[in-house]
Amino acid sequence: MTVATNEWLNSLPKVELHLHLEGSLEPELMFALAQRNSIDLPFENVDQVRAAYEFSNLQDFLDIYYQGANVLIKEQDFYDLTWAYLSKCKAQNVVHVEPFFDPQTHTDRGIAFDVVINGISRALKDGEEKLGITSELIMCFLRHLSEEAAFNTLAMAEPHLDKIIGVGLDSSEQGHPPEKFSRVFAKARDLGLLTVAHAGEEGPAEYVWTAINDLKVGRVDHGVRSSEDATLMKYLVETRMPLTVCPLSNTKLCVFDDMSQHNIIEMLEQGVCVTVNSDDPAYFGGYMTENFVALASALSMSQNQAKALVSNGIEGSFANQARKDQMSDLIKGY
Ligand code: ADE
Ligand code: ZN
Repeated sequence: MTVATNEWLNSLPKVELHLHLEGSLEPELMFALAQRNSIDLPFENVDQVRAAYEFSNLQDFLDIYYQGANVLIKEQDFYDLTWAYLSKCKAQNVVHVEPFFDPQTHTDRGIAFDVVINGISRALKDGEEKLGITSELIMCFLRHLSEEAAFNTLAMAEPHLDKIIGVGLDSSEQGHPPEKFSRVFAKARDLGLLTVAHAGEEGPAEYVWTAINDLKVGRVDHGVRSSEDATLMKYLVETRMPLTVCPLSNTKLCVFDDMSQHNIIEMLEQGVCVTVNSDDPAYFGGYMTENFVALASALSMSQNQAKALVSNGIEGSFANQARKDQMSDLIKGY
């Protein structure tokens, strides 16, 4: 068994299925946009911002994450945010991405839905043309808000269905079970959209079941608490339901005390379709390569295990079969 090295992990072609664009807002860009848009930040400099990124749970993080997004105002801001993420992907050999965006974080501040989605999609299109990174965009509903608010957001998205492949569910998990959004997800499916949902991050394995049964998700985001339910684990193995796991996020938000306790490699060995992702890299200390590196150093992840994790990402992606075949060929050579 060859333990994967940092350089090898960076060069390994990768796919990312769980990335919040708002969570890729680096402090440097936050300051630049604040200045461009004449917005006051409650920080003096980027070091102060980074020093504030100590979280003891998901809500701690969300409070600061929603505040950071206030600097995003114009279409070009959303373009620049997305482009900065794609440039990082290029440097780390991430060849396909399926990012999330949270329209309600912006529309609730008076930013038009079109401004948000047009900036993001223009950057994704340029990412494919100029960097060769293919992508599919996923629109998330904020689960701490109402079902009605989610329906309104879906209505705003209707003229833009050509730009999104699916809908997701994020924000504060505990107390906001997936079934709160059963009807809006049914409507989204009727519109031809695919579905994913955050479940089993801080919330119980029961939420993974309801994401699957009530929201009919094609992937579960996080899902690490599935390991507490043996019947669910058997189901995940049999159906190859993908879990988009985010190791650095899980340790930063204290889902696991330490990376050495993370269950991703154990789940991989049990036959679960687990994948590696960065979630909110600007807040959690790293992008795709750093997440893989953390697994190699804390859990002695081998090259074969790293390749299996990428293969799972390809299998679980919403890319078409031709692109999946192309990406599978890319990792065969490693
Ligand atoms: N929004 C951004 N990151 C999130 C996470 N890890 N869980 C839930 N909502 C989020
Ligand atoms: Zn997430």
